Amino acid sequence: MNNHNSTAAGSQAPAWSPPEPGLDARDPRALAFAAAHPVRPIPATGPVDTTPIAGTPAPGLEALWGAVVPETRTRGNDIHLPISLAFAARLCDAHPEADRELVLVAVLLHDTGWAHVDESRIISEGFSGDWRTAAIRYEHEAEGCKVARRVLPPLEYSGPFIDRVCEIIDGHDTRHVAYSLEDALVRDADRLWRFDQAGIALASSWFGMDPATYTDRLAGEIIPELITQAAVEMGTTDLSRSTALLQTKVIR
Ligand SMILES: [Fe+2]
Ligand SMILES: [Fe+2]
Repeated sequence: MNNHNSTAAGSQAPAWSPPEPGLDARDPRALAFAAAHPVRPIPATGPVDTTPIAGTPAPGLEALWGAVVPETRTRGNDIHLPISLAFAARLCDAHPEADRELVLVAVLLHDTGWAHVDESRIISEGFSGDWRTAAIRYEHEAEGCKVARRVLPPLEYSGPFIDRVCEIIDGHDTRHVAYSLEDALVRDADRLWRFDQAGIALASSWFGMDPATYTDRLAGEIIPELITQAAVEMGTTDLSRSTALLQTKVIR
């Protein structure tokens, strides 16, 4: 699926322009969340685990995983989703006030919609130009909500719970502000997997970047986007481990 040439970054790298808050920032949910959490990054209220993520795989949710195995076979979801879920579980430990089940289910399902869009457009549109707002990104969010509404009712999740899952999935890439703490934790987990060595290996190839260029951009552009202090600590620690392992100081 990776039909990118491994071009060096430089002028060929896609724009990672900072997100524009836009209209979403004036949504009442965004305003309420911002007012409730004036200190950013949001301080943790529970323990923050910065050890390598491989040590704490996320337990449970086997029935839900089983329902979306076909959806994990697109765009590295069988790597991205389990690692993101493990980070989400840690973020819930750091924020015990959050609805843990909502965060975990939303993270597990958030990118399943990629399996239901035109695969040839994933790389051509999803990782080039203004990739944050490419049409295919809106489509994978809408398709992800359809997956959630198909697989969650047979597993006896309630209608209101499924609505909340879909509220998080819808806009997880294209909406630039969080509407709730659970939404924020999903967003942070969706970014943290990239700091792990497996995430660097996979995502740098999507963007056609070498690991040194990619990790430079994680430090400069993605760490500042993290919403919670726990995520900042996890991402920063993981990044220094990964860059040391991959020798990015000299292989550049
Ligand atoms: Fe996504
Ligand atoms: Fe994702």
